[in-house]
Amino acid sequence: MILKGNLLFAPELGKLECLPNGCLRLNDAGVITEICKQLPEDAQAEEVVDYGDKLIMQSFADMHVHAPQYPMAAMGLDLPLLDWLNKYAFPQERRLADTEYARKIYRRLAQDLIAGGTTRVVMFSSLHTDATLILMEELEKAGISGYVGKVNMDRNGAEGLQETTEESIRETERWLEECKRFTQIRPILTPRFTPSCTDELMEWLGKTAVERDLPVQSHLSENDAEIEWVRNLHPDCAQYWETYAKYGMWKKGTVMAHCVHSDARERAAMKEHGVWMIYCAQSNANICSGTAAVRQMLDEGISVALGSDVAGGAHLFMVRVMEDSIRSSKIKQKETGLPFLTTAEAYYLAGTAGHRYFGAKSGFSVGDKLHAVVLDDSRFAVDEGRTLEERLERAIYLAQPTDILAVYAEGKKVK
Ligand code: GUN
Ligand code: FE
Repeated sequence: MILKGNLLFAPELGKLECLPNGCLRLNDAGVITEICKQLPEDAQAEEVVDYGDKLIMQSFADMHVHAPQYPMAAMGLDLPLLDWLNKYAFPQERRLADTEYARKIYRRLAQDLIAGGTTRVVMFSSLHTDATLILMEELEKAGISGYVGKVNMDRNGAEGLQETTEESIRETERWLEECKRFTQIRPILTPRFTPSCTDELMEWLGKTAVERDLPVQSHLSENDAEIEWVRNLHPDCAQYWETYAKYGMWKKGTVMAHCVHSDARERAAMKEHGVWMIYCAQSNANICSGTAAVRQMLDEGISVALGSDVAGGAHLFMVRVMEDSIRSSKIKQKETGLPFLTTAEAYYLAGTAGHRYFGAKSGFSVGDKLHAVVLDDSRFAVDEGRTLEERLERAIYLAQPTDILAVYAEGKKVK
């Protein structure tokens, strides 16, 4: 099969490839076999899907998102992190004990992710094993791939939202066993954040991550009060990251959201150990956490990708996340004097960077399964003769999920 249209992809940070009226050739498995500037001459027998003047772009990877918080998006955002957790997030997550409710909201979440062109995720569930399995089923059914974590929390939770250490271990074991039935959605160990897990649980999670070769996700240095709390809980650790490192969870492929207040030493530890920083610009502004030093981190060679952090972030749509990332980096420029994120850079971070976490190559690449969106910018492209780069910039600021006409995930058309 051949897809024809205006190809736009970001092979490297800051690099944009534009192929007007280009073609992507796919084999039956949805793997890209050729990227061409025009319709190949030997294409006669093949099905050609012609998207005309529309933009064929890379799909998005949301590398930090809380599934159970989706129904409370845009609520309580005048509170700082710890108050917001206690007053809004924890009571909402408690509702996921109800599996019928889980089915309803997770089906909707999966549909909305695909509608907005997000085809890969690294996601938090709640502490509930059954609801987490339902979430994984619904994501897989929608065609999404990636990692989902059953949350571990055996301290500092809330009434009805806390496990005993023994329960947390037993339920994580059960969950990991049940996860074997999934093919596209895999488990990631998820201590909610250091204040949520006892030393004993952290030790078990670290040991399990190593023994079973499982990735780990959590939160790092998001908010001042949180950081102070962690310092009091672990007086033996000079910095927040060491509370994960102490238990073997600071390793290649570990995903840490926020890192708003990570100083040079914490950042060096990320770089040295191959830990990923997930930039959640809207969430960081919404709950007044601060603005992360994204440019510094990129310059230092840390792996960075983007997250919506719904519901700290109010928007699931990764186009909004790109817009907010650019804007936040422009505000940060006043403080650091370092360059803000360009259009091409934000696009790289929302697509290629996240896809690479899952082993994909650069931009659209021969040998990769197709992850793409087809975006119709005719609603706001009132001028003719704009370059594809200009059209990308306008799309980042103006597009809505309804402008996404088609979505391809793992080589299959899913919208
Ligand atoms: N830290 C611990 N839990 C959470 C959460 O649910 N959202 C955010 N933004 N930070 C957290
Ligand atoms: Fe988060």
